[in-house]
This record gives sequence, C-alpha cells and structure tokens, in this order.
Amino acid sequence: VKSRCYRARPGGGFEGLQLHTEDVPAPIGRQALVRVVATSLNYRERMILMQGRYSLPLRPDLIPVCDGAGEVVALGPEATRLHVGERVAASVFPRWIDGPFSRLYADQLGGSLDGMLTEYTVLDEDALVLIPAHLSYEEAAAFPCAGVTAWNALTWGSPLAPGQSVLVLGSGSVSLFALQFAKLFGARAIVTTSSAQKAQSLRELGADEVIDRNQTPDWDRAVRELTSGQGVDRVVEVGGGATLAQSIAATATEGRIALVGAVATGSIEPSALSAGVYTMYRLALGSRAHFIAMNRAVAASGLRPVIDRTFAFGEAPAAFDYFFERDRIGKVVIRVAD
Ligand SMILES: NC(=O)c1ccc[n+]([C@@H]2O[C@H](COP(=O)([O-])OP(=O)(O)OC[C@H]3O[C@@H](n4cnc5c(N)ncnc54)[C@H](OP(=O)(O)O)[C@@H]3O)[C@@H](O)[C@H]2O)c1
Repeated sequence: VKSRCYRARPGGGFEGLQLHTEDVPAPIGRQALVRVVATSLNYRERMILMQGRYSLPLRPDLIPVCDGAGEVVALGPEATRLHVGERVAASVFPRWIDGPFSRLYADQLGGSLDGMLTEYTVLDEDALVLIPAHLSYEEAAAFPCAGVTAWNALTWGSPLAPGQSVLVLGSGSVSLFALQFAKLFGARAIVTTSSAQKAQSLRELGADEVIDRNQTPDWDRAVRELTSGQGVDRVVEVGGGATLAQSIAATATEGRIALVGAVATGSIEPSALSAGVYTMYRLALGSRAHFIAMNRAVAASGLRPVIDRTFAFGEAPAAFDYFFERDRIGKVVIRVAD
C-alpha cells in the first residue's frame, strides 16, 4: 500500500510541511493497518511545529498531529481485539493503557512517533479504541487529545458529582469539552471568555455562567460571588502562570485544580500558591482507559464535539495557518480521505 502523508521538522513552521508518498508496511503481530479518514489539530501542534519545543521527546522528521480516526483495513496474524472494517480512533499515548502515567509510556503520536496526518498508519491494536456509532469520522477525530484531557481533568481523584461547580477557562478545545462533560455530569459550569460573541456560543453549549475576562479582570472574585463566597469544586486550568493565582483564589476549600496547560504567558508569585486550601494535579492527557470511559459517556449521551471548520487533505498547510492565526471556537479538522 502507498500512503500520502505530511512530514515536518519540529520548529520548521507549518510552511515546512512536506507532502510525501511512502510505502506502508503490512501489519505484523498484533498491529492494525488503519485507513485514516479524519484528523484534527491541537495546541500541541503549535508548540511542536512553530516553537520546536515540547515537554516530551520529538522525532526529527515527523508525521505531525496526534488526533485521528479511521477504519481498520488489515490486521496482523496475532491481532485479537479488533476486526477489519471497525471504526477506530488512536490513543495519543499508544502504550499507556491504564493506571498512572509513566515515562515508560511517554511515546506519543505526532511527537516521538509518527502521527495521523497520513492516509494509512500501522499501530498496535492496543493503541486503538472503537468510536461511538453516532459520530462521523470528522467528529470522532476531534476527541483523542482535547476530549480525553478534559475527561481526565474532570474525573481524576473522584469523578465530578451532580451539583458541583466547575470553572472552565476560555473556549479552547480542552475547555469546550470540559464544559460539555461538566453538563453531562450534572455540574454547574462557570466559564470565562474574551468576547460577547464567544459568551453567546458558550451559553448555547450549556454554560451556566459566563464571565468576560476583559470586562471583569478580577474574574476570580466574580466566581466566588457566583458560588456564595465558597469558590468552585473544580478548575480545568489551561491558562498557566497568567491565570493560576486567580484560579486558586476562585477554588473552594478541598477543591481540585487540574493543571492542564499554559495558553497565556505569565508567572505566579510563590505566595499565591498558599492563598487557599486545595489539591492540584498536573495532567498528562490520558490513557486508553480514560478514552474508553469517555467514549461510553459520549455514546450514551449522543454528545457531539464543536467543529469550527473542516479542510481537505491537500489544504493541510492552510488548516494549520487557520488554526494558529484565527480566533476560532471549536476544533479544526482535516479530512484525509475523499
Ligand atoms: N497536559 C495535557 O495533557 C494537555 C492536553 C491538551 C492540551 N494541553 C494544553 O492545554 C492548553 C489548552 O489547549 P487547547 O487545545 O484547549 O488550546 P486552544 O484551543 O488553543 O485554546 C485557546 C483558548 O484559551 C483561551 N485563552 C487564551 N488566553 C487566555 C488567558 N490569558 N486567560 C484565559 N483564557 C485564555 C482563549 O479562549 P477565550 O478567548 O474564550 O478566553 C483561547 O481561545 C494548552 O496549553 C495545551 O498545550 C495539555
């Protein structure tokens, strides 16, 4: 089988994406050959392609993008979990099945391993999960990184309980899933954002309260007021040093802060860390077990991801450009197969 794929050098920018035609190896052992139908972009692609830096090892010349969904078209002779024709998505850490994250499982798609911006890929069958029946391939491709991360953030330690409150920062990919999942759990979602237009979209997605962080720079105080002075039970923290002090100030005693990312630059004063009583946890995306648990909830609820725009495979550089440069709401998807 021949496969068209894009390769890029970390730090080479999206202009450095090169289209190649390569041989695809036949699956051996417990491998599966997957015909990729759709893939989607994440913040990490910005770090890897634009900045050339990432918290985990990177291949020098990689097929980028960790999110993808497709169809199993062939199996190695020892494969037992999957069947030809099944619709699957790849777990971003293919070797992390369950339990706590370990550096032993640190290989990631579109990072130290080739990723999903390819027509065909060979993966261990253990790296693949079945996708919910109601989702199209484009929709299924939106979940592996941002969806699993949001799921992990809301379920670590103990899952969110009905009636609890969650602070979601912004309308980025992880945050939109966090909002949708918070509503699935019957929780109250308080969301910050940067414009009235985005606030409206967030309300339509189920946000109970939306705070414009430009109009209300002391949004932590607003969150406390909205929670009778108590603060929220959970925070899905994607802002990093720029927002963490305020997230801590907005958290209830015994609340939990999932440290997910740092979309904004800034630093936190050490004294701000002791401003509350809370538990903080740094996430490494999630395991296959998180992915399967999330898919069960997505299938049972019929939840669909928010997709901003879909591009054709030949337009991949334009998709990256759009993703990096535009103020969007929802995932940017690349349809790989016609
Ligand atoms: N640890 C992990 O395993 C893991 C997994 C996935 C992602 N991440 C990290 O999580 C972060 C979010 O990823 P993503 O894919 O959701 O990113 P994204 O889609 O690019 O999210 C960007 C959004 O963040 C909001 N934002 C920007 N500056 C902000 C500020 N100063 N204060 C509050 N909100 C701000 C904006 O929303 P509004 O305009 O609505 O405010 C913006 O649209 C990234 O740092 C990523 O690397 C980590």
